Amino acid sequence: MSKTFITKKIFISSDHAGYDLKNYLINQISKKKIKITDLGPFSKNSVDYPDFAKKLSKKITDINFGILVCGTGIGMSIMANRYKKVRASLVFNSKTAKLAREHNNANVLVLGSRVTNKKNALKITKIFFKTKFLKGRHLRRVKKLKNV
Ligand code: RB5
Repeated sequence: MSKTFITKKIFISSDHAGYDLKNYLINQISKKKIKITDLGPFSKNSVDYPDFAKKLSKKITDINFGILVCGTGIGMSIMANRYKKVRASLVFNSKTAKLAREHNNANVLVLGSRVTNKKNALKITKIFFKTKFLKGRHLRRVKKLKNV
C-alpha cells in the first residue's frame, strides 16, 4: 500500500443507517491531509438512500472521489452506478478494497454499516484511497463499462 492518498478531495454521504459510520470516517479521515466534504444527512432521522446517493454521484469527476454508507451498501451501490462517471464498489475487506481500485478504477467506495464494523471500515477506506489503478489490460475493460 502506498503512503499517499490518490485524491485530495473526497465527498461522503449516507442514509440514517450509515450515519454513525459516516461521522466516524469523517473524524478519522479529517486527521489526514485530505479534504472530506459531508453531503449529509446531518441527523439520524430516517431518509431515503437514493436521495443521498444521487447527491453524491453528481459530484463525482476524474478527481473527485466518494464514500457512500447505508445499512448493507447495496441500495447505495445500485443508485450510484446509474451515473455515467461513477464506478461504485461495495467493499467488505482489504482484498476487495485493493482490487476495486487496481482492477476497476472504482471512484466511489460503498460500505454497509450493518455488515462492516468501524475498525474494518476505516482499514478498507485507507487501502481504497491509497491504491492506484493498474491500467494496462484493466483500462481496456474499464472503458467497456459503458451504460447500456
Ligand atoms: C435502511 O433501512 C436500509 O434499507 C438501507 O440502509 C440500505 O441497507 C439499503 O440498501
